[in-house]
Amino acid sequence: MAKKILLAIDQGTTSTRSMSFDTAGKPRKVSRQEFAQHYPEHGWVEHDVEDIWKDVKKTLGDVAEEDGGDIQAIGITNQRETVVVWDRETGEAVHNAIVWQDRRTAKFCAELKAQGYEDEVRAKTGLILDPYFSGTKLKWILDNVKGARKRADKGELAFGTIDSFLLWRLTGGKVHATDASNASRTLLYDIHKGQWDADLCKMLDIPESLLPEVKDNSTIFGETDKKLLGRAIPIGGMAGDQQAAVVGQACFKRGDAKSTYGTGCFVLLNTGDKALKSDNGLLTTIAYSIGGKTTYALEGSIFVAGAAVKWLRDGLGLIHRAADTNDLANKLDDNHGVYMVPGFVGLGAPHWDPDARATITGLTFDATGAHIARAALESVAYQTADLVDAMVADGAKETRTIRVDGGMAANDWFCQFLADMLDTKVERPANIETTVAGAAYLAGLAVGVWDKLEDVAASWKEERAFEPQMKKGKREDLKKGWLDALARSRSKIP
Ligand code: G3P
Repeated sequence: MAKKILLAIDQGTTSTRSMSFDTAGKPRKVSRQEFAQHYPEHGWVEHDVEDIWKDVKKTLGDVAEEDGGDIQAIGITNQRETVVVWDRETGEAVHNAIVWQDRRTAKFCAELKAQGYEDEVRAKTGLILDPYFSGTKLKWILDNVKGARKRADKGELAFGTIDSFLLWRLTGGKVHATDASNASRTLLYDIHKGQWDADLCKMLDIPESLLPEVKDNSTIFGETDKKLLGRAIPIGGMAGDQQAAVVGQACFKRGDAKSTYGTGCFVLLNTGDKALKSDNGLLTTIAYSIGGKTTYALEGSIFVAGAAVKWLRDGLGLIHRAADTNDLANKLDDNHGVYMVPGFVGLGAPHWDPDARATITGLTFDATGAHIARAALESVAYQTADLVDAMVADGAKETRTIRVDGGMAANDWFCQFLADMLDTKVERPANIETTVAGAAYLAGLAVGVWDKLEDVAASWKEERAFEPQMKKGKREDLKKGWLDALARSRSKIP
C-alpha cells in the first residue's frame, strides 16, 4: 500500500515550490520553478498570475507523481500582501498581481496618514499605513483598471491574496476564502474581532462583496478539482509564509521566536493570546488561528538580509558564492571598526526610513574585502538584535532561544555572531524548509494526521545550536559602533 503523505505548496516572491512530507513531518520530494518579475515603472512590481498558476500545477503534479504516495491533504503557503482581483465567472485576473514590494500607493498612504487615519488603522489591524500591505493596492486596481469598480460593485469580481487565488483555482472556482494570517496583512481586517472592518473598507472604498471568507489556518478549505491530481484532495491548511514558518519552527509557546533569512529577514515572536501594540516600530499580526483560538505575534521586517550577500557577489564581485562569506569572516580576528548598514532600499522595522541609504563606515587602507563581507554578515545580526530589543521594549516576554531558517541560516559564522549579538541561543533545525513544512503541518492537523500542535512540535528536530560566547563589554562596544553607522545612514541625522 502506498505510504500516506502530505503535499504543500509554497508560492513565494521569486519561485513556486511544491513538496511532499511523510506523516512524521519529514520532507520527501520537491519540485521548484522560478518565474518572471515585472517592473512596469520605477518602484512597481507585478506578477503574471497565469505564470504562478502554471507553476503551481506543474510542481504539484511533479511532486505527486515522483513521490507516488497516498496524498492525505494539501497545504498552501504564500508570499503575503500580494493582491489579485479576478472575475468570478471566468476566474481570469483583471490585472497582474501587484506584489507586496510595490510602492505605487506611497503617496496615497501619506495622504491617509495626513488625514489622521494611522491610529485607527494601527489599533484595528496592527499594521501601519504603508504601501507594503494589500488594501491600497486593491483600491489602485479598482480605480485604474477600466470597468473594474463597476464590475466590483455588481459583485462580479473577487479579491484575494495569493493563497485565496490559488484556493479558488485549485477548487475549480468553488471556494472563495482566505485564512486569518493572510487576512491580517490586508489593512482591512480587525485582528481583535476577527472580521473584515466596515470602516476600513469605507476608508479605502472597497466593496465588501469583493472579500473572501476568513477561516482558521487549519481546516478543510475545500477539495481540489478532480482533473488536477486524478481525484479530489482536501486542502487542509493555509498561512502566509512567515506565519507558516512560525508553525514549521514549532514556535507554539509565548516567547518563542523565529527568524527567516531570505532576501530580507522576518522575525516573528509569539505573544500568545495577547495582541501587543507596538510603540517601537513593529507590526502586530496574527500568527495563526486554530480551533477558533487566535495566537498573535509581533513582527519585525528587515528589507535586506541575504540581498546584502547577493550584492557582495553580483554588485561588488567580492565573492563567488554566498557561502564564501563564512570563510572570509572567519579569517579575521575582529571587524576592524568596519560597519555596513544595508539600507539599499531604505530601512524597514524598527526604523522605517524609506530614504535611508546603504553605508559603509570605518574604512582605513588596511581594510580588505573580507572586512566588507564580514560587515555585511554582521549588519544582518545587528538588525535582528534591533528588532528583538524593540519586541522586548514593547512588552514581549524575553526570548530564550531564536530559531533560524532561510539561506543565511546555513552560515555557521553568521549564526554564532547572531547568538553573540542577541545574547540568546540560536537554534537551527534539521529541516530548514520550515515555511513549506508549516503548511504541510497545518494541512495534516486538519485531516487528523496529527491531533494537536504539541504532536506537530515533536517533529521539529535541531540540527545545531549556537550558544552566546561573547563578553558583555565586547558586545556593547560592537553595538555602539553599529548605532553610530546606523545614524550615518539615516535620511535625517537623528
Ligand atoms: O511579507 C512578504 C513576505 O511574505 C514575502 O516572503 O519569502 O516570498 O520573499 P518571500
